[in-house]
Amino acid sequence: MYYPDSVIEDVRASNDIVDVISAYVKLQKKGGSYFGLCPFHNEKTPSFSVSPSKQMYYCFGCGEGGNVLTFLMKYENYTFQEALQVLADRAGIKLPEQEESPEAKREKDLRQSILEVNKMAASYYYYLLRGESGKTGMDYLRGRGLSEETMHQFGLGYAGRGGTNLVKYLRSKGISDSLIREAGLANADEKRGMYDKFWNRVIFPIMDANNRVIGFGGRVMGDGKPKYLNSPETKVFDKSRNLYGLNFAKRSKEKTLIVCEGYMDVIAMHEAGFTNAVASLGTALTSRHAALLRRYTEDVILSYDSDEAGVKAALRAIPLMREAGIRARVLNLKPCKDPDEFIRKMGADAFRERLDAAEGSFSFELSVMEKQYVLTDPAQRTEFLRQVSKKIADFDTEVERESYMQAVSVRYNTSMDGLRQMVTRYLMTPGDRRDAGQSEERPVSPAGRKKNRDEGLLSAQRMILTWMSEFPGFYKSASAYITPMDFPDPFCRKAAGLLYEQYESGKVDPAAIVDRFTDPEEQSMAAGIFQADLPAGSREELRGAMREAVRRVMEASLAAQEEDGVVVDLASLQQQIERKRRLDDLGKMQIDLGPETDQG
Ligand code: UTP
Ligand code: MN
Repeated sequence: MYYPDSVIEDVRASNDIVDVISAYVKLQKKGGSYFGLCPFHNEKTPSFSVSPSKQMYYCFGCGEGGNVLTFLMKYENYTFQEALQVLADRAGIKLPEQEESPEAKREKDLRQSILEVNKMAASYYYYLLRGESGKTGMDYLRGRGLSEETMHQFGLGYAGRGGTNLVKYLRSKGISDSLIREAGLANADEKRGMYDKFWNRVIFPIMDANNRVIGFGGRVMGDGKPKYLNSPETKVFDKSRNLYGLNFAKRSKEKTLIVCEGYMDVIAMHEAGFTNAVASLGTALTSRHAALLRRYTEDVILSYDSDEAGVKAALRAIPLMREAGIRARVLNLKPCKDPDEFIRKMGADAFRERLDAAEGSFSFELSVMEKQYVLTDPAQRTEFLRQVSKKIADFDTEVERESYMQAVSVRYNTSMDGLRQMVTRYLMTPGDRRDAGQSEERPVSPAGRKKNRDEGLLSAQRMILTWMSEFPGFYKSASAYITPMDFPDPFCRKAAGLLYEQYESGKVDPAAIVDRFTDPEEQSMAAGIFQADLPAGSREELRGAMREAVRRVMEASLAAQEEDGVVVDLASLQQQIERKRRLDDLGKMQIDLGPETDQG
């Protein structure tokens, strides 16, 4: 789905960034900007700034930044479409209808209806739990140590006895039987007709990351079977794509997410202050879960039950995490069974200690493997090291393989050379390598590339962009010397191109430039550039710094041109000579900084 730029601009312009962010962050006015505690990292003194004039935010502490759309994308983890829709609704703007086949439309309407029915069911269960007939459910949950507040937060409920209460209730609200069944809330048979899926169970509504109720889990209050009954897969409930508690955990400021097995585990952890806990929905973790997790974090702590099944589940989850680019660690909960039990028996502080001590996933795998061998027996030891080498050969990069070999060499007191030989052998075996044939290492992240560059030159380019957005007079003078093509850094070149374009069209709006970058890291960089703090100093000093920055960029551009080699024609040779001459008289560049302000 694509919307024209004009629509996006309209939505953005109709949602004042200060208003929108104020709903999430307490802001205080200071000078021309607003400041507050950054919602993206932990801090005690406010370094998160929101500029009403530029309609951008930027955190001087962690470097997150962007416009009103990127704020919602980062804070709520919305896609661009979702953020746009939310802001359009907020401003009462109707987005242009997208072309949709009648079938797609029906499908969408059905999903919408199921979500509506789920919401009605959730509030029905919620009220039952708190009413007269919900006493058994309430006693059970209290008995498990849950506070009213926690029960409220997770929307816990109770499905009463009787077996047709919910169906009756929903019918009375005008919901059709077929929709009730599409939502997975009732079954039907010849003898009984329609009857509730859940009865005499405490109810855990399952919400997606956007707080929509997509399904339910119901627990017997005692030892009945099955212990938990879950909604069947429906048009809105896909267990392999959702994680329980993610709607809350995504707002946690912790850098990690804790992944566990049970609803009660998530709830117990949140209650104890570990608000970054999520659980899979009674199924094994899938690569889709891993991809979902990766949207929110690079670090996961697996917190599975301490029994054999839990260990197996962790061993299965680890490679999925690796493939998704997530570093996983594994929590040891012994002697307790699961996080819920651990926290009840040992307390939150002890749990925190265990989190800090969680074992790296590779080390965990070693610990499990090593138990299958008698390492004092030479033959078994060799076999063990062979299996370990095979594992190491699976890592994509040389750097990873080397560091894991080091770890193994130290832990099992074995020579690096021997290990390397074995690992290399597995590397060579075709078919054993997932990425056989494509020997390139993973692409370096933009952040990694950035480091290798000349920092001074980079900051000159950024300062030029900052000043240009701030002082039209500087743009006017400097653009006679440098064009966007002169910026050696690709990111700055693109940003410069967009800014020059805006000046030429007569409407300078840095927040619009942010939208032109799709990578969140680049959006932050753009916001950082256009909202950087200008260093204090006299106007003459500022002009000097400006000339110096322009000089650096011109020099770098000329040098790159010369490096590119042969000048093909006379015209470009003349141009080059002319530019060198301009460089020499750069000192004479006049810069109109506008009327004196208290800034500098
Ligand atoms: P557990 O059996 O470990 O239960 O199942 P638990 O989370 O510790 O729950 P309590 O403390 O006994 O109440 C872990 C998860 O597996 C799924 C549920 O999602 C549960 O939270 N499960 C378990 C089912 O879907 N059905 C079952 O019958 C049992
Ligand atoms: Mn449990």
